[in-house]
Amino acid sequence: MTAIQLWDALRWLERSSLAEAVRVAPFLYPLLESLHVLGIAMLVGSVVAVDLRLLGVARNVLPVTTVTRYLLPVSRIGFLLVVVTGLAMFSGIARAVAGSAAAPWKLGLIIVAGINILVFHFGVYRSVHLWMSTLQRRCAHEPLRSSPPFAGPARSSPDGFLPTDAPS
Ligand code: HEM
Repeated sequence: MTAIQLWDALRWLERSSLAEAVRVAPFLYPLLESLHVLGIAMLVGSVVAVDLRLLGVARNVLPVTTVTRYLLPVSRIGFLLVVVTGLAMFSGIARAVAGSAAAPWKLGLIIVAGINILVFHFGVYRSVHLWMSTLQRRCAHEPLRSSPPFAGPARSSPDGFLPTDAPS
């Protein structure tokens, strides 16, 4: 696709009824922008928390699978929100955004993030159940630091939560 064809495609996108509504409807663009930022907060916040766990934070309390079970859905919803609202905003101002100096950087970084997701999920994350059983073995044999001396060895539930995590 040549640059001129790309420019024509963006012009066609800007003439769509969605793009028209994004430009004309009162509050639609700010609403989309707010939801875009909400999606970014959900995406980046949950990814940072998962990354901290992968770096070893709270390794004796929470198995990686528990963290990912609760936080990956938040990441997915955030990502979906970011993509849907981003594309809607883009349709309204496609040529201005595509022509900005930041556009190739943003696209490039999104592609790098996508590659990172693929490498993680189809690479190292495949053996996550081995990491979990290591944690469970340790939980089953080490007494809790906060347990009274007569409490005996700590036991973990199937997802690795320690008994002290259960609501009393
Ligand atoms: C398909 C994916 C995405 C598309 C099509 C998209 C598109 C857009 C558009 C059109 C804007 C408005 C630009 C303007 O007002 O000049 C915007 C703003 C923004 N985007 Fe995205 N975006 C996407 C993904 C992301 C991701 C993954 C992040 C970061 C995690 C992100 C961060 C931002 C930020 C920080 C702003 C500025 C918000 C503001 O000024 O209120 N975007 N995006």
